[in-house]
Amino acid sequence: MSSNAEGLKRSAAEAAFAYVKSDMVLGLGTGSTVAHLLDLLGEAVGTGVLSGIVAVPTSVRTETRARELGIELIDLGMHKRLDLTIDGADEISPTLELIKGGGGALLREKMVAQASERLVIIADAGKAVDRLGTTFPLPVEVVRWGWRAHVRFMESWGAEATVRTATDGSFVESDNGQLLLDCRFPGGIDDPGALEAALAGRAGVVETGLFLGLADEAFVASEGGVDRIVRAT
Ligand code: A5P
Repeated sequence: MSSNAEGLKRSAAEAAFAYVKSDMVLGLGTGSTVAHLLDLLGEAVGTGVLSGIVAVPTSVRTETRARELGIELIDLGMHKRLDLTIDGADEISPTLELIKGGGGALLREKMVAQASERLVIIADAGKAVDRLGTTFPLPVEVVRWGWRAHVRFMESWGAEATVRTATDGSFVESDNGQLLLDCRFPGGIDDPGALEAALAGRAGVVETGLFLGLADEAFVASEGGVDRIVRAT
């Protein structure tokens, strides 16, 4: 990853960080773009520029980094609602529908997003797509028992699904101990809403990386500046 790519992620994170105020209950997403947000938040908390902030992390990775930075963490559900969650994405459509889960954190990310008043996405322009599923495989978290049945099911939807593996060939486990299927759709996903509904009704599917109707706003950074995309009301 070039330093310029990191600069774009930093710019997107800075734009969203402007929304963070003292005494907020935050959701902290996962990924290399969110890493910049954590650094900004850690510095502001450490220097006392911001105070009274508590946050729910969406992954073990984010939890570990937030603790290192001195950010106070709480469990999901300790507050009725979160004021604001800032997270990354793997694909962003023009209407702010998302694919997430490249980092395997989709379940906790979606639980936190659903508990939040606002979900703000930060990304570089490489994540912007016209149609979901064109550049990134859709992650689907499934229970280990019978996982191949979900591969067959995804094939019936026109996808090529593979179980996520580590470099040594072992199955990657999510933070929740489940498997992850990465589902490639030639030409993209025809009807994300129908696919989401079909997977939601399927025993053994824990969660999907389709984030439909959840994001309120996105900051997308390119060489030309940071674009702000707001969900149409
Ligand atoms: C984590 O599971 C994903 O949903 C991430 O939010 C996503 O992969 C974005 O990561 P980067 O900011 O590293 O691209």
